Amino acid sequence: MTSVFTLEHRLPADYFTDALRADAFKGLTGHPKALPPVWFYDATGSDLFEQITRLEEYYPTRTEREILTARAPEIAAAVGARTLVELGSGSSEKTRILLDALRATGSLRGYVPVDVSESALRQAARAVTGSYPELDVHALVADFHQHLGLEATQGPRLLAFLGGTIGNLLPEERATFFERVSDELEPGDALLLGTDLVKDPATLVAAYDDSAGVTAAFNKNVLSVLNHGLNADFDPDDFRHVALWDPEQEWIEMRLRATRPLHVKIRDLDLVITFEDGEELRTEISAKFRPDRVRAELQRAGLTLEHWWSDSAGRFALSLAVPAPR
Ligand code: SAH
Ligand code: AVI
Repeated sequence: MTSVFTLEHRLPADYFTDALRADAFKGLTGHPKALPPVWFYDATGSDLFEQITRLEEYYPTRTEREILTARAPEIAAAVGARTLVELGSGSSEKTRILLDALRATGSLRGYVPVDVSESALRQAARAVTGSYPELDVHALVADFHQHLGLEATQGPRLLAFLGGTIGNLLPEERATFFERVSDELEPGDALLLGTDLVKDPATLVAAYDDSAGVTAAFNKNVLSVLNHGLNADFDPDDFRHVALWDPEQEWIEMRLRATRPLHVKIRDLDLVITFEDGEELRTEISAKFRPDRVRAELQRAGLTLEHWWSDSAGRFALSLAVPAPR
């Protein structure tokens, strides 16, 4: 048996020019300077993220894997999904634990990985189709702020958003995202959400400022994306990687700090951006959660939290939520 594999592009044709242009203009001319984290993930950035997941300091991936391994049969039994849709699926490596459990229930027919990174999707889909020949794999190159990948899929659907990527959305983006999920899920469907949890700042900061410098390279890669995409002349050596814990917002902030005064040309925007010595560009937030906040945010959007599974050290959690009856 060979599985059916299709790859569909749902990003607008001009996404990597127009959306990058708009984000760069707004983010680099505003104060403080900030960029959305989606621009990390060109092929190099996707590879660097995979390296991060294997670092000793970066506990989220192995902790979520541990929870999935323990709970996948329960998750599969609770949903009995015919289709698994996964947002920001990346390498789909942990997803195999879910696919195995869903396959064992006999209900699963299709897998829809959704990611902006076509390179990550192609690699992942190749591996998944090889191991799960009975599955229809329909990969979507899409922005999960625009598409949840649910249309034209057969229910019951399990919508997985793993890795703690929800924490990379700003609070208002998160609220909009949960509302869209709530609108699009139907009775019988469920959301499986991975959230990193609040813990001691030293552990958190080490996870985002590893001793081998892989996270620093991942952070600085966004400058190469700007250089290639917009014909800019950022020199990554002019910036220092910074990871800070914000105890009020309860999020990690990654920034790039200019190590001297700079004038950077962005030719495709006809723009010169100045950085003062020490000025910072925020490149990512990574929010950490408490159970009450997850429950409340889901509830506000019309989603009911039905299960909460954590590891024994309380580092990371998976939750299963369903649309509240309308
Ligand atoms: N789920 C995987 C990968 C997490 S890395 C894991 O748990 O290990 C975050 C992934 O989300 C990357 O593959 C990145 O390309 C993707 N991503 C980031 N922003 C996105 C967006 N706006 N739309 C779709 N995918 C996005
Ligand atoms: C994808 N996301 C959940 C990662 C995180 O931990 O916020 C991205 C990352 N940034 C630095 N290291 C990993």
